[in-house]
Amino acid sequence: MRIGILTGGGDCQGINAVIRAAVKKAEDYGWDVIGIRYGWLGLLDGLFVPLKYEELDDIIGIGGTILGTSRVNPLRRKDGVKKIKENLKKMKIDAILAIGGDDTLSVAYELSKEGIPVVGAPKTIDNDLAATEYTFGFFTAVEIGTQAIDRILTTAKSHERVFVVEVMGRYAGWIALYSGLAGGAHYIVIPEQPLDLDAICKLIDERWKRGKKYAVIVVAEGVQIGEHELLYVKEVVDEFGNIKVGGIAHILADEIHRRTGKETRAVVLGHLMRGGSPIAFDRILATRFGLMAIELIKKGEFGKMPALTKFKIEPVPLSKAIAEMKTVPKELYDIAKTFFY
Ligand code: F6P
Repeated sequence: MRIGILTGGGDCQGINAVIRAAVKKAEDYGWDVIGIRYGWLGLLDGLFVPLKYEELDDIIGIGGTILGTSRVNPLRRKDGVKKIKENLKKMKIDAILAIGGDDTLSVAYELSKEGIPVVGAPKTIDNDLAATEYTFGFFTAVEIGTQAIDRILTTAKSHERVFVVEVMGRYAGWIALYSGLAGGAHYIVIPEQPLDLDAICKLIDERWKRGKKYAVIVVAEGVQIGEHELLYVKEVVDEFGNIKVGGIAHILADEIHRRTGKETRAVVLGHLMRGGSPIAFDRILATRFGLMAIELIKKGEFGKMPALTKFKIEPVPLSKAIAEMKTVPKELYDIAKTFFY
């Protein structure tokens, strides 16, 4: 038995922990493991590298992906599925583990419908994948966001300023909500809830009147402000039709300054949120996902992925994971609103 592992889409903390766990378990079963470079691109172009646990045992705490990644969509490439089938045959790969978010897993799902034996492992800092309560990478990104808010708070106080901290998350507000809540932000703006600029400015004015002359506002990068729909809305940057988002904090900061007269600065955390070492929770979640992915291959349960459900790792169909985007429910936002003060 020989399996191939690939990582697609944005990198995140914990990917290497999945690879490490999957390779270990596969070797325990006496299987061979081949790394596929740069996501689906590697399967199209035949970019392979052998993976041995002996060389991987120390990568659990290393960020990024040792296999490299891309946002190549083989379903958009001429004869993409045919090429993949040929390369799998040529390399004698019996099954694929695709580690990725909604884009990578949607390709995995389509390929499984074409009869290609593939399982997934859910990865994204955005935590927007349905069918799993959390994805690895998310809590590390939240930790980075929380620490950034802690740091900004001291400068906000010293200089009596308003800071708008922008976090990643694309169209979902999970990172903003969790890091804002954990960092004690005074207001959180997420794409799932209407933006109320009057409420933000009123809160700032009231804080100043109470003598609390500082405020930290967290905004998710996917928030829209009036005509400034997602700052780079026109630029499609990959083969999945994703657009580039980011920069909304500057517009929000300018508008707050214009309306309140308070000095307001923007900080965009961007890719800082995806880099570096995974926290322990993500290392363990990723490890458990990697182990179960191999079990799924062993049992021939293709077209599935491991998911976290009530602290247990359970297999779920890929179709369920990609069916819809998981967004922040109103009840959770209401919890955060308690502290908008
Ligand atoms: O999906 C993960 C993510 O980090 C999003 O939060 C962000 O909008 C996007 O990827 C950025 O992608 P890229 O690194 O391709 O610019």
